[in-house]
Amino acid sequence: MTGTIYHSKLPLTCVNLDPADNILSLNRCSYLEERSILLIMSIMKWSEDLSVQVKEIDQQHQRLIDLINKLHEAMLAKQGKQVVSQIIDELAAYTVYHFQAEEKYMQQFKYIGYLTHKKEHEGFVQEVEKFQTDFNAGKLGLSIEIMNFLRDWVTRHIKGTDKQYSSVFKENGL
Ligand SMILES: [Fe+2]
Repeated sequence: MTGTIYHSKLPLTCVNLDPADNILSLNRCSYLEERSILLIMSIMKWSEDLSVQVKEIDQQHQRLIDLINKLHEAMLAKQGKQVVSQIIDELAAYTVYHFQAEEKYMQQFKYIGYLTHKKEHEGFVQEVEKFQTDFNAGKLGLSIEIMNFLRDWVTRHIKGTDKQYSSVFKENGL
């Protein structure tokens, strides 16, 4: 998302907007201009089309999306390396936690796609950890390309891979 206008003291209604709602919301918040208050825009939003029909997992996906948005906001607000590094750590740790939760259920329910699914998880964890290492070593900065990669991978994975376990998870009582 480009053309962003940001600051941190907006009323909640002006924060974490749906990107598609940007113009409308800018108008809605324009009366705050004299306080130099600007707009933070989410890169990603959870919606029903991302639902795997399992509440616990949907909540974890929402948390993951929140963390991606938090990282995006930190990038746009030009936060310092330490702050960004902490968010990357949080995102990396939560990703591992969430993948383990899914994998635990897949194993428990003898889900046939377990190994293929696990491989996808491992690939993503490797990418995130590589970025984490490079960022901390000062070799790589946070960029819109990185943010787009995170958003696109998570979206594609939920829609294409996670949704395949929905019926099995539900049949087993989740
Ligand atoms: Fe998954």
